[in-house]
Amino acid sequence: MSDPGGMRRLPVDVSLVPQEDETGVVNGFFVVVFDVSREVAAREADLRHRAELAHVSRVATLGELAASIAHELNQPLSAIVANAQAGRRLLDRVPPDVDEVGHALDDITEAGRRAGDVIASMRALLQRGEVRDERVDLPALARDVTDLLHSEAIGRSVALRTEGPAGGVSDVLGDPIQLKQVLLNLVMNAVEAASHGAGGERSVVIEILQRGPEVEVAVRDSGPGLPSDDPDRLFAPFVSLRRDGLGMGLAIARSIVEAHGGRIWAENGDDGGAVFRVRLPGA
Ligand SMILES: Nc1ncnc2c1ncn2[C@@H]1O[C@H](COP(=O)(O)OP(=O)(O)OP(=O)(O)O)[C@@H](O)[C@H]1O
Ligand SMILES: [Mg+2]
Repeated sequence: MSDPGGMRRLPVDVSLVPQEDETGVVNGFFVVVFDVSREVAAREADLRHRAELAHVSRVATLGELAASIAHELNQPLSAIVANAQAGRRLLDRVPPDVDEVGHALDDITEAGRRAGDVIASMRALLQRGEVRDERVDLPALARDVTDLLHSEAIGRSVALRTEGPAGGVSDVLGDPIQLKQVLLNLVMNAVEAASHGAGGERSVVIEILQRGPEVEVAVRDSGPGLPSDDPDRLFAPFVSLRRDGLGMGLAIARSIVEAHGGRIWAENGDDGGAVFRVRLPGA
């Protein structure tokens, strides 16, 4: 804060204190000047610090968001490529298998829509910073997920099924696309784990239960089970024990479930394999 002329400038606080004579007439002022350079510097540092913090957390959120978009788009994109390749082979047959090409094209359309849904829901999350509030039927959502992953499971010789509750369960409130992502991530992991399990039946079962006021979805697999040390660390971002894993699936699942007022955790099943449980408050 110095001038070219060598004079130093200081931020100051100036007060005028009126001097009155005994009849109450103001006949002068005391001018009190406080040097407030320390306070001003501290305030500027604080503002700068807060701006930096806001920037850092925005960048961190964007980074996580980018990772989660990459993760969620990977599955529909692989489905599109696989179906397009299958369509090509079916057309090369003599005679071409036109019916099956039609199915491949339907699957491509469905995967493309799903990719669009993922982007729409991420965008909504960014804009409003909140989740959509609708009544969601979890058993119906689980059936959608088993349909979506049907060919993935068959390809890995894994039997995938849903065990519905006998008496039905409450709806939950939330964003159906995000909740579907949670189930997709859990079931994909379970199918992956089951395909590496020891001999015997390879299976993944999605079970839906009413637990008091809450609804629980349990995804149980016949895979090798959880690592014995702290299974909760699997939910941290970028933790993956798979060679090709990004390690975002469970981190995304946890942040979605918690944004819905629910809980998600993992344990080992009674007969080997892992069980991932999600509990959400009923509507
Ligand atoms: N059902 C399961 N059985 C055993 N281990 C599991 C199971 N589900 C997840 N895990 C372990 O937790 C790790 C983290 O899972 P997460 O879904 O977060 O990441 P990922 O599947 O490795 O990669 P991606 O980001 O592609 O989903 C996995 O790498 C795996 O080691
Ligand atoms: Mg995963």
